Amino acid sequence: PKRVRVHHLREAKDRGDRLTMLTAYDYPTARIFDEAGIDLLLVGDSIGNAMHGKSTTLPVTVDELIVAVRAVSVACERALVIADLPFGSYEASPEQALATAVRMLKEGGANAVKFEGGKRVAPQVRALTNAGIPVVGHLGFTPQSENLLGGKRVQGRGDDAAERLSSDAVALQEAGAVAVVLEMVPAPLAAQVTEILRIPTIGIGAGPDCDGQVLVWLDMAGMGDWSPSFAKQFGQVGAALRAAAVAYADEVRSGSFPDRGHSFLQ
Ligand code: KIV
Ligand code: NA
Repeated sequence: PKRVRVHHLREAKDRGDRLTMLTAYDYPTARIFDEAGIDLLLVGDSIGNAMHGKSTTLPVTVDELIVAVRAVSVACERALVIADLPFGSYEASPEQALATAVRMLKEGGANAVKFEGGKRVAPQVRALTNAGIPVVGHLGFTPQSENLLGGKRVQGRGDDAAERLSSDAVALQEAGAVAVVLEMVPAPLAAQVTEILRIPTIGIGAGPDCDGQVLVWLDMAGMGDWSPSFAKQFGQVGAALRAAAVAYADEVRSGSFPDRGHSFLQ
């Protein structure tokens, strides 16, 4: 399959083709999503909540994320792999962001990085772009700022907040961002930002008018034990896995597995 490249993002927007993105944290699921034709795989810091049972993304480290980035990168033949920059690994300076992003590409094999914030991280976006590293922005509800934002809340409500979000999006674009994720933003504002920007918007809880969509894969596939109201379950992977485990345990306990067909007879 022909690899998804950064220039395809703008081309997709210009053609009106919607971009598909899912999170991935390991080799087997990334293989499945890549083969399914998902355009962009995000190794998100949501690995903290989704995969490691933490209550926020804040404790996720660069080292633990890189292990996941490497597994996802190895799995992908077509999808563009985007690595999140964890909390505390980019905010201080463009130099800090560059050092972390270089690790994501060099050790992790990622094609691009994503981090949270608008104008305040525009210098970081510029520095990475100058170094040849594509950057995806992330606005609206930004989980790493949950303490400051006062919880998991819709962002950009009201004229002032909407204006701030729009100008942050433009600042990211001007600094060289190749796309911007809009998380938990009112649909009309997401539509307006999508209209203003030349680069694609990728929505999550941001209504139907973004240029693309991203979900945490466990929420999309019915795998997690909690999922946000904006997510839709397109499968029941958790139930299927539980049924497989129960069936396995039943057969082991009853002695019907392993049978002769699943044994080395000599
Ligand atoms: O970490 C993540 O999964 C994300 C997406 C929800 C955009 O940042
Ligand atoms: Na994230």
